[in-house]
Amino acid sequence: MTVRTVLRMGDPRLLQDARPVERFDTPELHALIADMDDTMKALDGAGLAAPQIGIGVQVAIFGVEYNPRYPDAEPVPYTVLINPVLTPIGDEMEEGWEGCLSVPGMRGLVPRYKRLRYRGRDQYGKPIDRTVGGFHARVAQHECDHLAGILYPMRIRDLRNFGFNEELFPGQDLQDE
Ligand code: NI
Repeated sequence: MTVRTVLRMGDPRLLQDARPVERFDTPELHALIADMDDTMKALDGAGLAAPQIGIGVQVAIFGVEYNPRYPDAEPVPYTVLINPVLTPIGDEMEEGWEGCLSVPGMRGLVPRYKRLRYRGRDQYGKPIDRTVGGFHARVAQHECDHLAGILYPMRIRDLRNFGFNEELFPGQDLQDE
């Protein structure tokens, strides 16, 4: 398939609401997900949402494998999440550093719900219903934000906690979402 160009912050398409997917298990949907997979892998990302490649539909993928280079990074199962609905569990928030393939080379400290339930469907139309916490919950919130036209810098509470990777985390190899 194809590695697609990822839109960068400033492109108005990243600020639009994505529309729901109506038909599942179609060649078009499988081709979109194959391109998203190729693009995410080529850029070593932890997640990608369809609007980031200019397709305004509610499709996100994410996943983090255990990597001995980052033993502290929590693995997240590979997930295709379509038409997601997030429901926070409790109102506890947690700040954590995020990066985004649409905001390359930067990191910001972003508050997210610690725990949440997400529901949606996979590419075959099979329902997904999970209750998650920690980094898994953070990645799900980051990707679902993309489907509502929200980029993580819009959620940073104190812009002093926003900057370039090389200045904030010198010498570290970081993953974007
Ligand atoms: Ni992102």
